[in-house]
Amino acid sequence: MNIEIGIIGAMDKELEDLISMLEDRGTDSISGIDFHTGILSGKSVVIAKCGIGKVFAAMCAEIMILRFSPTLIINTGVAGAVADGIVTGDIVVADTLCQHDMDTSPIGDPLGLVSGINKIYFDADKRAVEILKGRAADMGLKVHVGRIATGDRFVAGAEEKSRIRKLFSASACEMEGGAVAHVAFVNSTPFAVVRAISDSADGSATEDYPTFLSKAAARSAALTLALVERW
Ligand code: ADE
Repeated sequence: MNIEIGIIGAMDKELEDLISMLEDRGTDSISGIDFHTGILSGKSVVIAKCGIGKVFAAMCAEIMILRFSPTLIINTGVAGAVADGIVTGDIVVADTLCQHDMDTSPIGDPLGLVSGINKIYFDADKRAVEILKGRAADMGLKVHVGRIATGDRFVAGAEEKSRIRKLFSASACEMEGGAVAHVAFVNSTPFAVVRAISDSADGSATEDYPTFLSKAAARSAALTLALVERW
């Protein structure tokens, strides 16, 4: 099957609605990750749960690209709010992504620099960003287009949140998008990252995250479906 779109999420809740809608479903298991192929809204797609964190996300994106060659990879899920004015339930569509825990500054590099390719920021596909922004507005969702900062840490403190906001001008933080972006970039594959806010990435995050996770995850998945329809 010629796959048009690949969809990656970290957790079951972020993908269960989309997987349940797949027609003509098949599954390919590679390196412990199930790649569900099928038809979603008339488009051929592959959907995979990568697991939490940058290494799993990178593995999943690389396998997806090499095995299925999608024309677009979408990373969907939840995120913590970093910029002022972004609250639980809001949507953040990434225009750029970075890795806030990438740090070779002791040897003279700027924080966040990915050595070798010499990049801090990775650009999401512009057409996908525009579609996501428009569809979110159509759905009555509050949408912010901005930078998403990724790292292998659940951010749950005012100090770390403020560090990420100041150093990277980020709108939201999560744990996979920057890795998907990095892998997509080196493979010249267009990508988009869409997230719904589940918490404020501060002292209230550990309480808010389990409370809002399901609703936020479903909201991001619904917007992902809207992008698939229009792609
Ligand atoms: N995903 C959702 N909330 C998050 C947070 N506060 N930190 C990192 N990843 C998240």
